[in-house]
Amino acid sequence: MIRLRTATLEDIPALANVLANVSAQTDPTVDVEKARTSMIESIPEYFGKDEPESLLSLIELDGEPIGRFRVVRFKDRIFLGGIQILPDFQNRGIGTQLIMELVDESRTTGRPLQLDVERSNSRARRLYERLGFRPYGESETDIHMQFLP
Ligand SMILES: CC(C)(COP(=O)(O)OP(=O)(O)OC[C@H]1O[C@@H](n2cnc3c(N)ncnc32)[C@H](O)[C@@H]1OP(=O)(O)O)[C@@H](O)C(=O)NCCC(=O)NCCS
Repeated sequence: MIRLRTATLEDIPALANVLANVSAQTDPTVDVEKARTSMIESIPEYFGKDEPESLLSLIELDGEPIGRFRVVRFKDRIFLGGIQILPDFQNRGIGTQLIMELVDESRTTGRPLQLDVERSNSRARRLYERLGFRPYGESETDIHMQFLP
């Protein structure tokens, strides 16, 4: 069963593990062990400094941490500020399920659901397009996409 659980300081190793493995997936020069260690050191800095509306969660599959999920709920919009799933658990519909829950929330609250996707991440962009997101702007590195309820 997939569940979101609010992350605490004790979850930093699990969050670092997800981020290190996901970055190694696209960049073969990344050393997973080194990346994990440096993230374990840098994530505590970030805790407490994030936007107050932000909610950082672990994605758990049957109680095991398999991903990271960050949502920022503003008054007038919902921002999916990060979704990363460990490579072994990708492509099983988990991302779709979690994003569709936010799409439902967007529909029931009437707030647009927005996210930024790196230009180079065409697979993620295709997933978002399938789920009803459309581009509404861009920066040097990212495409801004939104689902309009
Ligand atoms: C993007 C991601 C959250 C999708 O979750 P998921 O559970 O793997 O996706 P689902 O099984 O629900 O849907 C499959 C679709 O996800 C996308 N996807 C799958 N693996 C992906 C990967 N490694 N990177 C980017 N997109 C991916 C593809 O569009 C795929 O459909 P396709 O096979 O027709 O191309 C997940 O793959 C992931 O964490 N990827 C690496 C990190 C990332 O790119 N995060 C998004 C940043 S904006």
